[in-house]
Amino acid sequence: MTDTARAVRFDAYGDVDVLEVREVEVPPPSRGEVQVRVRAAGINPGESIIRSGGYHSRLPGTFPSGEGSDLAGVVSAVGEDAGDWRVGDEVLGWTDRRGSHAELVTVPADHLVRKPAAVPFEVAGALYVAGAAAVGAVRAVDPQPGETVLVSGAAGGVGSIAAQLARRAGARVIGVASAPNHAWLRGLGIEPVAYGDDLRDAIERLAPDGVDAVVDAFGGGYVALARELGVPGPRIDTLIDFAEVGVGGVQGEGAGSASSAETVAFLADLVARGELRVEIAATYPLEQVREAFTRVERRHTRGKIVLVP
Ligand SMILES: NC(=O)c1ccc[n+]([C@@H]2O[C@H](COP(=O)([O-])OP(=O)(O)OC[C@H]3O[C@@H](n4cnc5c(N)ncnc54)[C@H](OP(=O)(O)O)[C@@H]3O)[C@@H](O)[C@H]2O)c1
Repeated sequence: MTDTARAVRFDAYGDVDVLEVREVEVPPPSRGEVQVRVRAAGINPGESIIRSGGYHSRLPGTFPSGEGSDLAGVVSAVGEDAGDWRVGDEVLGWTDRRGSHAELVTVPADHLVRKPAAVPFEVAGALYVAGAAAVGAVRAVDPQPGETVLVSGAAGGVGSIAAQLARRAGARVIGVASAPNHAWLRGLGIEPVAYGDDLRDAIERLAPDGVDAVVDAFGGGYVALARELGVPGPRIDTLIDFAEVGVGGVQGEGAGSASSAETVAFLADLVARGELRVEIAATYPLEQVREAFTRVERRHTRGKIVLVP
């Protein structure tokens, strides 16, 4: 039976004001698919870039467009041959079809994993994009015990997870963030340093023997800074400065290279065991999707902002 549900839609590229919440038809899940009633769906800066048309040449939009990849919720219908999923199962995962900012979403059965009871829906629904990006980036620079890793945007969704994963690998982690986030980062075992004119000197004072690897989760010059610090290109990974990818071996691995149910399960398990902290800065109901993106677009989110349909 076809259901109806509220979902975020937009009809043309533009600012947050193109975003609307509409009642849409949701057909039953096809073979191999599972329908999820969304309890939480993270939002990501890349969705703003898609919505504004900034990725048109790489990821062209079709309209009306939905949006959103991250999701956590409760299974509400199961198609044929969709594995062991049962209505009522608590899950997290993702959709590749721009559609998790909605009350209902239908995904391939292998895009879901079971939500550990200890992981709140808000956190589970924020894990996929930022978590997979962090896993991809940290894997690419391969931190070793005793090395020093610099992470830019360390208080953000991607940066805070990347920094914690680099710590878990045994590295010392220096995280670039503004002063209000420093105590919080210290609580995660990350040594904070403030961005600004003195950044390079401040890093050199903190790490007089040098920085071994850099994860750039902010863009705007951190790859250049990494080079100035003497970090070899292959040990620099940028999640956003795509013009730098490939130059001198700089890597651009992110969510794409780590996107899998295994990655999502790995991250959820770390959270459940208290070994990974994912801060939820705020939650917004679906109707306030414009306000939620307005806040994300200020680029000072600590951790994640999540829609709770
Ligand atoms: N390639 C991929 O697969 C992939 C996937 C996901 C995201 N991304 C990209 O990764 C980047 C990070 O995303 P995000 O979700 O973590 O959110 P974000 O909004 O880009 O980052 C928020 C953080 O940036 C920090 N920040 C602001 N100005 C800064 C500066 N000048 N220097 C260093 N940090 C600064 C803020 O900390 P303060 O408040 O302390 O300033 C805040 O905590 C984005 O560019 C996003 O598009 C790429």
